Amino acid sequence: VGQNLITLKEVDSTNTFLKNTLSNSKPLPEGTVIMAESQYAGRGQQMNKWNSDPGKNLTFSLLLNPTFLAVANQFDLTRVISLGVHDALEPLLGDKLKIKWPNDVYYADGKLGGILIENLLQGGQIRQSVIGIGLNVNQDVFPDWVPNPVSVKQILQQDYDLRALLSEICSHIEAYYLQLKAGKIDFVRKAYLNRLYWLNEQHAFRSNGSVFEGEIKAVKDNGILVIKSNIGAELEFSFKEIEFLN
Ligand code: BTN
Repeated sequence: VGQNLITLKEVDSTNTFLKNTLSNSKPLPEGTVIMAESQYAGRGQQMNKWNSDPGKNLTFSLLLNPTFLAVANQFDLTRVISLGVHDALEPLLGDKLKIKWPNDVYYADGKLGGILIENLLQGGQIRQSVIGIGLNVNQDVFPDWVPNPVSVKQILQQDYDLRALLSEICSHIEAYYLQLKAGKIDFVRKAYLNRLYWLNEQHAFRSNGSVFEGEIKAVKDNGILVIKSNIGAELEFSFKEIEFLN
């Protein structure tokens, strides 16, 4: 991962660029990384915009061909990517670093990075996966509309080399990806759960307009979040159905 690195000065979105390149049937080797200094239409989850000051942060997309992965197990790829980003940063930032379900990288209660995976399916199989990663590295100030952001610089009070970080992230992702490919699914699932933000802690959540307290207990194989509510029931949520409050 990252051997074939294409860097762009400015692009709409590295995910869009990579998808367009592929659909113009230009074959690219698995592990190709498209990195941009600046994106003018960076995309986040749920149609959000992704904010990143030009030249300050990592904004890149990588191509994988996880044809071995059943569509039902797509979430294992999400696990692999979150783990790779998390573990690359862990030596720098220590154990306040967590994975917030489903795939945000958190430091304490701040969002350090986000992941946007777009799978291209064919005949009920995953053919290609475009994996966008945005990580706040050297940005000092964020606009008001960005929810609880934090950067490596805000934590460590120093600038960090983007290329060095990129290469760490790529090698950690590759290591987890190879584990997944080798069938070590339990290893990947356990590693993900071990690093999960708010696991087994009392917190408030909101779903369907109602607020409740409970503890995150598990993430099912398919990525569904399991919360044991204080009223006693184990509740299950898919993405967009649940909001973390405090
Ligand atoms: C999120 O909402 O948390 C996901 C953010 C993903 C942002 C990255 S930046 C590189 C790639 N290109 C995009 O347009 N989005 C992703």
